[in-house]
Amino acid sequence: MMNHKVICWDCGATVEDPFVSICPRCGGLLTVKMDLEKVKEKKPADLRKEPLGVWRYSDFLPVDPAHKISIQEGGTPLYKTEALAEQASVKEMFVKFEGLNPTGSFKDRGMTVGVTRAKELDAKVVGCASTGNTSASLAAYAAKAGIKCAVFLPSGKVAAGKLAQALFYGAKVLSVDGNFDDALALARKMADEKKIYLLNSINPYRPEGQKSVLFEIMDQLEYGVPDRIVLPVGNAANIWAVYKALTELEEVGWIDKMPMLTGIQAEGSSPVAKAFSSHEEDFVPVENPETLATAIRIGNPVSGRKALMAIYGTGGYSATVTDEEIVSAQKLTARREGVFVEPASAASVAGILKLREQGIIDRDERVVAICTGNGLKDPDTAVKYSEPPIKCANSVAEVEKILSR
Ligand code: F0G
Repeated sequence: MMNHKVICWDCGATVEDPFVSICPRCGGLLTVKMDLEKVKEKKPADLRKEPLGVWRYSDFLPVDPAHKISIQEGGTPLYKTEALAEQASVKEMFVKFEGLNPTGSFKDRGMTVGVTRAKELDAKVVGCASTGNTSASLAAYAAKAGIKCAVFLPSGKVAAGKLAQALFYGAKVLSVDGNFDDALALARKMADEKKIYLLNSINPYRPEGQKSVLFEIMDQLEYGVPDRIVLPVGNAANIWAVYKALTELEEVGWIDKMPMLTGIQAEGSSPVAKAFSSHEEDFVPVENPETLATAIRIGNPVSGRKALMAIYGTGGYSATVTDEEIVSAQKLTARREGVFVEPASAASVAGILKLREQGIIDRDERVVAICTGNGLKDPDTAVKYSEPPIKCANSVAEVEKILSR
């Protein structure tokens, strides 16, 4: 199926070798150019015979859905969060809860496409570096596809749920001495030597699947473009994928304006937000990134330049939040909306509260927060920042005493 080509995002060259992850000519980042001519004849409703999910949008995907590797990814709820809207004092606020994907994060959207591509290429071993979620997702899809899988994790810094998943899905789990950026460097070396097919988001097929979160939001809002979409930013591919999806919807004529894409980073790991605050188009890597939101503990984001383009290209914004603000937003989302997100995902909610307070977000805005992962991924952080369970004797009187406190 040739509805696309892979090109260099920097120099525009067409890239033929499917096993490279950077441009052989200039070393630039790769991207997929979709041929959307036939889609221009369609309208959103024509796609609705397929259930809400990644594959409803196969017209926008660079792989053949006939042989997809799928465990029913996407189709996640878009909650109208009135309590959060009130707290932030914005007109309308929604949470797109990506924690309800098959492995509990948005990564499944990119992985169903990426592993389908790996299968097309008859890859023998797939691999990725990860702060946790990417590895959990790849391990699951590799298991489904029957392909051997190796994941490279920063030692000691992966949340318990994510580690349990990668181990249990049967990947070779490699604990690398160093942080995510070091683990990625090793995975890239393995890919350069053609020992693994690399499924980090530097692989241009991954963001293609991740575009579907935007397509779903638009479907769920009946194509009423929100004023702003807010996302946590780590390795910086997801905000770019959302931007790419918007440009494609514009190309086929399904939308005629863009939401302001707003990228939130943790204060201790914020190269993109720093670049934005000084109006730069490129970022300076952070040497020793630190944050309790380990999913986005990344100093040298591969797609950082693409993320900045997504932000500037939509008149969006980028800012940081502290670990305290993250945990507080995580609790608020759980306690007011019944939605348990992981710390990195709460960064988007924390960012909305902060930017509204600073007047960057207007009271009149209709805002969507993408909450990227499930709170169950990181039980240790949740327990650490909660009151411990209350000791209680086996007695009704004692329970009553406790409840009346
Ligand atoms: N939220 C969660 C829960 C994540 O796991 C990640 C990235 C992000 C947000 C940021 O997305 O990297 O596209 O900007 N996790 C990667 C991983 C790095 O290895 O699981 P991004």
